[in-house]
Amino acid sequence: MSELNNIALEILGNGKGILAADESTGTMTKRLEGVNVPSTSENRLLFRETLFSSSSMSDCIGGVILYDETIKQISSKKNKIPELISSMGSHPGIKVDTGAKILAGSIDEKITEGLDGLRERLKEYHSLGVKFTKWRGVYIVSKDYPSKLSIQSNAHALARYSALVQECNMVPIVEPEVLMDGDHSAKECYKKTSEVIKKCFEELILHKVDLTGVILKPNMILDGNKSKDKISNEEVAKLTLECLKSSVPSEVPGIAFLSGGQSEVEATENLNLINKHNNTKFIMSYSFGRALQQSALKFWSKDIQNIEGTQKVFNHRAKMNSLAAQGKWSKEFENK
Ligand code: 13P
Repeated sequence: MSELNNIALEILGNGKGILAADESTGTMTKRLEGVNVPSTSENRLLFRETLFSSSSMSDCIGGVILYDETIKQISSKKNKIPELISSMGSHPGIKVDTGAKILAGSIDEKITEGLDGLRERLKEYHSLGVKFTKWRGVYIVSKDYPSKLSIQSNAHALARYSALVQECNMVPIVEPEVLMDGDHSAKECYKKTSEVIKKCFEELILHKVDLTGVILKPNMILDGNKSKDKISNEEVAKLTLECLKSSVPSEVPGIAFLSGGQSEVEATENLNLINKHNNTKFIMSYSFGRALQQSALKFWSKDIQNIEGTQKVFNHRAKMNSLAAQGKWSKEFENK
């Protein structure tokens, strides 16, 4: 087994998943202001440090994706953040793209940037103890979108990023996010997601990326959030499995879903059903941002010094998702 494959399995094996705590300062400011907490670097650190020192980190969280600001911060107990995460039994990771910018030639769409100087930045992150990285490509859905240009250029960037990350002995998370914004059907989401993922792997293979040392982070197959129709959770699971089975090469060890704006319980329920019906060799787990942090953030915002209470809320959510990653979750557990 290769070293990278081993890391991927440590992150996602045994019912573990990923905490995506890599919100940029802009996004984190929106989240904090949304619950009336001033977005200072101290507050951003306090909330994140609270989660990173929770007991569920050892059993449920195999990896944490950090943002550049956080990875360089020192915890209140004087630990470097990557060291705190490692000491809890989890792997530190880092978002390395520099954000999605307007795509010249198709100005409604976006292209993710960050390749310039990436090799040097990766070396620095690796020296800080980072084991894996993330790069997110983003795609809108409508009659004409995503365009061939957006599908091609984002796949190319994801592949160049992945090759550089593996060269530096880290596992790349490949995140092509087909957004749920819009009134499109789940069938449309299926079609577009399938096209996007296939192109990504075509480029990854061209760029000689070792697929056994990659984690795919896709969206689930859902109706658009403005669609009048809503397929059932069973249907979401069935379509998501079908889509991934036909578009992801079998060498890939694990798939970790983003939550993409689903509610916490909805994301957990869908993940649980995906695992109940999982007839693939892929590990199917989570790499949730909002769906792991929302309740904890709300609770914390009422009293930002209530560390224990916040950790309890976070531990519950992490546990629910860990059960779902094994197909063992049930709605009744939510109220316990
Ligand atoms: P959400 O789970 O909130 O969609 O965030 C995951 C993520 O990392 C987006 O890049």
